[in-house]
Amino acid sequence: MILILDFGSQYTQLIARRVREAHVYCEIHPYLLSLDRIRAMKPEGIILSGGPASVYQEDAPLPDRNVTRLGCPVLGICYGMGVLNLFEGGKVARAQRREYGPADLTIDDDTDLFAGLEPRPMRVWMSHADKMEALPPGWSVVAHSENSPIAACADSSRCLFGVQFHPEVVHTPHGREVLENFLFRICRVRADWTMEGFVERETAAIRARVGNSRVVCGLSGGVDSTVVAALIHKAIGDQLTCIFVDNGLLRRGEAEQVVSLCRDRFHFDLRHVDASKRFLQRLAGVDDPEKKRRIIGVSFIEVFEEEATKLTDVRFLAQGTLYPDVIESISFKGPSATIKSHHNVGGLPERMRLELIEPLRELFKDEARQLGEVLGVPHEIVHRQPFPGPGLAIRVLGPVSAEALETLRSADIIVDEEIRAAGLYEQVWQAFGVLLPVRSVGVMGDERTYENALVVRAVTSIDGMTADWARLPHELLARLSSRIINEVQGVNRVVYDISSKPPATIEWE
Ligand code: XMP
Repeated sequence: MILILDFGSQYTQLIARRVREAHVYCEIHPYLLSLDRIRAMKPEGIILSGGPASVYQEDAPLPDRNVTRLGCPVLGICYGMGVLNLFEGGKVARAQRREYGPADLTIDDDTDLFAGLEPRPMRVWMSHADKMEALPPGWSVVAHSENSPIAACADSSRCLFGVQFHPEVVHTPHGREVLENFLFRICRVRADWTMEGFVERETAAIRARVGNSRVVCGLSGGVDSTVVAALIHKAIGDQLTCIFVDNGLLRRGEAEQVVSLCRDRFHFDLRHVDASKRFLQRLAGVDDPEKKRRIIGVSFIEVFEEEATKLTDVRFLAQGTLYPDVIESISFKGPSATIKSHHNVGGLPERMRLELIEPLRELFKDEARQLGEVLGVPHEIVHRQPFPGPGLAIRVLGPVSAEALETLRSADIIVDEEIRAAGLYEQVWQAFGVLLPVRSVGVMGDERTYENALVVRAVTSIDGMTADWARLPHELLARLSSRIINEVQGVNRVVYDISSKPPATIEWE
């Protein structure tokens, strides 16, 4: 196991992903983790992340000083290198010139970290305002660049390494190999983190924990809940009951698809509750986005609870929590302000006195997808674009009505079809329609129209935290516009949203 201590770098998750991609298990923890807890984890190597602070600041975040004395190799990246230097007796100071962007690295010692690396000099990505002024006693320079005479350093006798650049980002083309050298040459870990291994371990653990009890799982038809259900079903079969709450806010055909997949293909014990009337009644006349979210969250809990109490012997609730959600709540930075109120379904386990089962807690989204593939979840589900919990309610701006939802569905399905037909479905993060409560004048045939505007929103993104509007081909935009205006009653104008996130968000509400 590789332990990553987080000092708040925007790239910390990327370090973890690179390590996992090398089939090595790793965990991210806040830098303040106690030495006892670190020891108990028995890490085979420790990586100190970058971070926005400077080690010479008075309130600089610093880990336990003995982190370098545990006997396992340590790699400090950027700020993490500063930490190593400080602890070992080197000197870190503010650089005269900030260095941000590409740099050419000259390798001075290629025995460990840089073994077998070509070409030389090597292109790396720098992002720092501090520099190493003096090495700690016993350390040596293993690479330098024009602006950083100590761009990488080591005390190889104790397996301590520091790099000023960021090997985890794609702008360091050979960064992956640098990290692999750390993992396999220096820490000597085995590449045994595979999805098949994960399935074996997790199903055994689930069986042991659940015993003869029943597990309920809220199924939405999205990637995470479907994969969780498939995994738990593999472990305990019919001791799992899935509850699918149809809130009436889904895309066209989605409810049927979820039901047929789960019943016919997976043979889940599935309870399909059509609660659309209840949701729509409560949403009638409500136009405040946060109110809509709250109504949907509360109603979901209510319906789910009603259904779950019909079952006997229920002890566990399965949830598709992913690793980024876990990190978000424990990381250095504290809970992120970006968490929206849809996470309020979190109150459910306490209310129902259920224990949580979250078998995807260790996985990143792409790993959850891989797991889905290993479990036989169809490609179109595994690679489905994210869809918000409150569904189309936050894409019908203003009050939600059955009629407005139908208008949006008709347009939305066209967006979906055309994006797929253009082969772009898996390249864009999300593509969808938004119905505006804004009417404008148009002309159709000989008649004037006065109808709603429909927004087409398509964005590219890595994780949904930031996003850019997708540069869709003009021909595709033209087809979208003409099909929507011709085929969707009540829409006479189509606009394309060209806002990035930030400052806009992906959804309109
Ligand atoms: P925003 O609009 O904040 O969205 O840029 C970022 C990502 O999160 C999804 N999203 C939600 N998902 N409940 C969810 O389950 C919500 O209330 C919610 N709001 C936004 C959004 O679709 C995008 O992928």
